[in-house]
Amino acid sequence: MFETIEKLPDDPILGLLAAYRSDNNPNKIDLSVGVYKDETGNTPIFDAVKKAETQKLENEITKTYTGIEGDPVFCDAIQRLVLGDDHNVILEKRSAAISAPGGSGALRVAGEVINSVNPDACLWVSIPSWPNHTPLLGTAGLTVKDYSYYDGENHVIKTDEMLSQISKLGKDDILLLHGCCHNPSGADLEMDHWKEITRLAQQNGFTPFVDCAYQGLGKGLDEDAEGLRYMASQLPEMIIAYSCSKNFGLYRDRVGSTIIITENASAAEAAQTHMKSVARRLYSVPPAHGAIIVGIILGDEELKTSWKNELNEMQHRINDLRTLFTGSVKNKVSSHDFSFIKSQYGMFSIMGLSLEQVSRLRDEFSIYMVNNSRVNIAGISPTNVEYLTDSIATVL
Ligand code: LMR
Repeated sequence: MFETIEKLPDDPILGLLAAYRSDNNPNKIDLSVGVYKDETGNTPIFDAVKKAETQKLENEITKTYTGIEGDPVFCDAIQRLVLGDDHNVILEKRSAAISAPGGSGALRVAGEVINSVNPDACLWVSIPSWPNHTPLLGTAGLTVKDYSYYDGENHVIKTDEMLSQISKLGKDDILLLHGCCHNPSGADLEMDHWKEITRLAQQNGFTPFVDCAYQGLGKGLDEDAEGLRYMASQLPEMIIAYSCSKNFGLYRDRVGSTIIITENASAAEAAQTHMKSVARRLYSVPPAHGAIIVGIILGDEELKTSWKNELNEMQHRINDLRTLFTGSVKNKVSSHDFSFIKSQYGMFSIMGLSLEQVSRLRDEFSIYMVNNSRVNIAGISPTNVEYLTDSIATVL
């Protein structure tokens, strides 16, 4: 069966990590995968996570299966984190959640539920988007189509084109939005966009599906959820795929959640049975360790404050790195204006380099970024910024 099997190309994002790790250049810079890094290039474990892990280790008495929905404390806490304790959806119990294996698992469960409830559903994905959105959700059986989002020449959202396309969506359409820190562009929807898209959803009946993978790393925990909270307060139905990889630093522990918001509490209960049925046939039960850690942190005032403070520091550091980079590159490159990077949010921005320039940076300077010149801003540091901007100046 496998005699003639051929190798597939590496993953366009995760494949770069392996290439970076095997590069011996002492000046190498990793701006590829979206993981937070500190000054030394390390991806730290949150203090609150370490403490919660100690608590868990001391108190844990079994490793028997959780329910298919995962840890119930986590499921409750994550809905409150994303929507806010006093959101009408929470008060009216109009949402249901399951714990899923990371943001990817959460997306996939949502995709499968959508497909089983409405086989005619069509998913609309922004151009550009996280490159795994289409394969991950397309193979869940959904028809996937694109809508215009980011103008890479002018570094702004294509508001008119985007809204005009969205205004044509109807009841079988699912609109995939990035809750904050748009991946790959860093260009986030503004409140006016959220309001207009909400109005169009009310008018035409399409369902928003919000991928929320970076809450707290853009403008702040509440600020980053403002748009989706508004939308959830106005619409009868909405879907959220949540990831705790970045904002809890739990990447390899695979912590995510699918949240479905419905018109009433009994529909929410029913939606949870569908999520569980999908989970059972995909992976049975989710990993529990990281979800329990998140549940412990969010249920303990001291740990929660410590986690929030650390997240806040990360968010500020990323914003400072944006300023550091633009300041440094400005002195070296006159042909390109990189100042837009300062006005974007989260880990990513698209530099606007050609594939040839990206390849030269990789091959000649050991600087790794995704082929569309998406960079992980957190990979920049005061010690590597001059080498980075000198190298960019050379390839430009
Ligand atoms: C990224 O976009 O770099 C992250 O979301 C990691 C991944 O899985 O691609």
